[in-house]
Amino acid sequence: MPNISSNKVNYPFYICGKVVKGYGRGSKQLGCPTANIESDVVDSIELSNGIYYGFAQLQIRESEIKPDIDYVNFTQFKNVKVSPIYMMCCSLGTNPYFNNKTKSLEVHILNQFDYDFYDCFLRVAICGFIRCEKNFNSLQELIDAIHSDIELTKQQLQDKDKWRSVVENGFFVRTY
Ligand SMILES: Cc1cc2nc3c(=O)[nH]c(=O)nc-3n(C[C@H](O)[C@H](O)[C@H](O)COP(=O)(O)O)c2cc1C
Repeated sequence: MPNISSNKVNYPFYICGKVVKGYGRGSKQLGCPTANIESDVVDSIELSNGIYYGFAQLQIRESEIKPDIDYVNFTQFKNVKVSPIYMMCCSLGTNPYFNNKTKSLEVHILNQFDYDFYDCFLRVAICGFIRCEKNFNSLQELIDAIHSDIELTKQQLQDKDKWRSVVENGFFVRTY
């Protein structure tokens, strides 16, 4: 399926999928934990590779709740628990710095968590394009670029009124 060029996309672009294990470099090497989305979903995304910003929400079934995780910010909704809606920035592609062989969608949620989200269901609304994926001369340059992406994400999403229609249009589970 051909990729749609990022500047012709009708945002928001909605994606839902299960969180799976990545290579585990996000937290350890980059200090930037990411939730990787299952590959079948990634393969069906008609977006150009690149770095994007938007919103994300985690959801977990009661039957999959892990005892060692503190779901204090999550809201019970029928038979699932849902997180608040967070800002996120994400990378779609093959991570040229690491030269991955397969395409991945890696979502960095702008919140401090002390655990990972394997098997959680993640809803993502991509609201805009930041830049193309790049190779870098050093890990530090990649880390610096990610920090700039995070700052840009906060700037783009800070106007709550502007994004109300995305957050409240029924795609995300309302927790208030
Ligand atoms: C906001 C953001 C920007 C990123 N930009 C790049 C990039 O330009 N080049 C690149 O190779 N990887 C980029 N990545 C991907 C990281 O390299 C990747 O998340 C990291 O290797 C962790 O992968 P893992 O969870 O599979 O271990 C970016 C990730 C995020 C969250």
